[in-house]
Amino acid sequence: MAKPRQVLIIGASRGIGLEWVRQSVAQGDQVTASAREAQGLAAVRALGAHAIELDVADQASAAGLALQIEGSQFDQVVVAAGVYGPRSSAVECPSVADFDAVMHTNVLGPMRVFAQMEDALAPGAKVLVLSSLMGSIALRQSSDGWLYRASKAAVNSVLKDVSLRWAGQAICVCAHPGWVRTDMGGPSATLDVAQSVQHLRALVERLKPQDHGKFFNVDGQLLAW
Ligand SMILES: NC(=O)c1ccc[n+]([C@@H]2O[C@H](COP(=O)([O-])OP(=O)(O)OC[C@H]3O[C@@H](n4cnc5c(N)ncnc54)[C@H](OP(=O)(O)O)[C@@H]3O)[C@@H](O)[C@H]2O)c1
Repeated sequence: MAKPRQVLIIGASRGIGLEWVRQSVAQGDQVTASAREAQGLAAVRALGAHAIELDVADQASAAGLALQIEGSQFDQVVVAAGVYGPRSSAVECPSVADFDAVMHTNVLGPMRVFAQMEDALAPGAKVLVLSSLMGSIALRQSSDGWLYRASKAAVNSVLKDVSLRWAGQAICVCAHPGWVRTDMGGPSATLDVAQSVQHLRALVERLKPQDHGKFFNVDGQLLAW
């Protein structure tokens, strides 16, 4: 019998991360998933995944990841943790607190995760960061949510650097999940969370070495940075 796929999902208390846990467990994967509070940890466990406590924006909590995944060999890693922050547009300056909260979660958080991941990747592992079309500088037509946009442009840069570092070791990409009906996307969003995750999981399944270091839309089309 084939060994079950080992999957790690960071930021799985709700939304896209939790749905990824649901679909992955249902397909027979062995899933480890993080949440930062009791309710999220319980939601992950209720779906049959191994829950780990992790707040990517908290230095002490984030530093404990390596120990929690020691000895693991993940075939698939998904970084879903993210916050939107203030809904302000250029040139309304964010507060320092808002800036730190968004940048620490969306940029420093993935950096902290990647810095502890290398030994826990199976050869040829697939690594996906949930970025956003809003992070694309080339495709930008609005300044709404400029702090969030800046954070997603920055995490795209982070993913690119990780891809240079892990060339030949893993296939690393960022992806826009669509506009998804979650707490972040809101009720008017166009995509159901289950549909978004189905498409994203299919995208990860299809990834080839030549896709390494690229930015994809949920429908599999390449996006300009
Ligand atoms: N929904 C959309 O339309 C959309 C579009 C483009 C991109 N995205 C991206 O897709 C990802 C998932 O979004 P979503 O729609 O599922 O959002 P969501 O429903 O708001 O869920 C966000 C998730 O991130 C976790 N999180 C937030 N701060 C964290 C921290 N400091 N440490 C660890 N986990 C943390 C939350 O945990 P708690 O429950 O503990 O807060 C929650 O599990 C995000 O990166 C988002 O930017 C979403």
